[in-house]
Amino acid sequence: MKEQLEKIRQAAAHALDAVETGEALEAVRVRFLGKKGELTAVLRGMGALTPEERPVIGQLANEARTYIEGKIEEKKAAVAAKKREAKLANEVIDVTVPGRRKPVGRLHPLHQVLNEITDIFTGMGFSVAEGPDIETDYYNFEALNIPSDHPARDTQDTFYINDNIILRTQTSPVQIRVMEHTKPPIRMIAPGRVFRSDAVDATHSPVFHQIEGLVIDKGITMADLKGTLEAVVKGLYGPDAKIRLRPHHFPFTEPSAEVDVSCFACGGKGCGMCKGEGWIEILGAGMVHPKVLKVGGIDPEVYSGFAFGLGLERIAMFKYGIDDLRLFFENDLRFLRQF
Ligand code: DAH
Repeated sequence: MKEQLEKIRQAAAHALDAVETGEALEAVRVRFLGKKGELTAVLRGMGALTPEERPVIGQLANEARTYIEGKIEEKKAAVAAKKREAKLANEVIDVTVPGRRKPVGRLHPLHQVLNEITDIFTGMGFSVAEGPDIETDYYNFEALNIPSDHPARDTQDTFYINDNIILRTQTSPVQIRVMEHTKPPIRMIAPGRVFRSDAVDATHSPVFHQIEGLVIDKGITMADLKGTLEAVVKGLYGPDAKIRLRPHHFPFTEPSAEVDVSCFACGGKGCGMCKGEGWIEILGAGMVHPKVLKVGGIDPEVYSGFAFGLGLERIAMFKYGIDDLRLFFENDLRFLRQF
């Protein structure tokens, strides 16, 4: 029996040497120490021993059990440590790996110029108004003193939804909408999308943007118009920028003018940008026609005002030296990323 115990002890030590996992360890425990285990079987057989042998073998058996249990505990700790090491090795994070950069978006160049212009006007006390893209004939034409036989109503220019409803061809209808619900003094700009049935080329697009302006108060004159626009142009193009007014005709202003800015590329000497003129046309303006004031519910005997309308794309093109309008609408990232 003594030999048998020694054999079991060696067999257990041998088996434990080969153990790599928790499951294998448990199998070894069951094999030697379990209810039907090899050592347990020996202990069961002790009843057959003589009273003298019993304590001797009993002690040996206990020693064998303690030995095997100790070995199992050792192995258990070793297996757990190995498992932890493997897990840590697996979970290693290399904090020196460069991060993944998210591309940063930015405002469209037209929006950047719009924001700049809006800042200049709001800095002078203007508020910002909006009107609908889909307008009635009344607001887009009739109320602005554009009679039904005026060439601007030609179906070539205007997108009609029906006889009465159109896509606005200009932001000027917002003038009427603001006058209808605002008592003077009025100082507002109205940026927005406008639509004209034009074929697309480098300088034409069926959709583009205007910024309308309207100032109404007692005693407003052409000098206020000129002073305001001069301040805006200096804000946009720098302190050396000048403007000039050329007589023109718009049905909703009297007198009317086209406004040029001194060429910001050559300062007025004449260059490729201004086609040798030294001046670049940037907007239409004038004193609000008395008929238009009346339509808006404002007494032309008491109040006067000026209005202007500028093309956002045109201003952005000159500001950035862009020679093709289509670039603004194609949304090519190679273009947009330059702003
Ligand atoms: N609405 C005109 C256009 O689209 C631009 C314009 C001219 C607006 C003179 C005005 C103005 O307010 O006074 O061509």
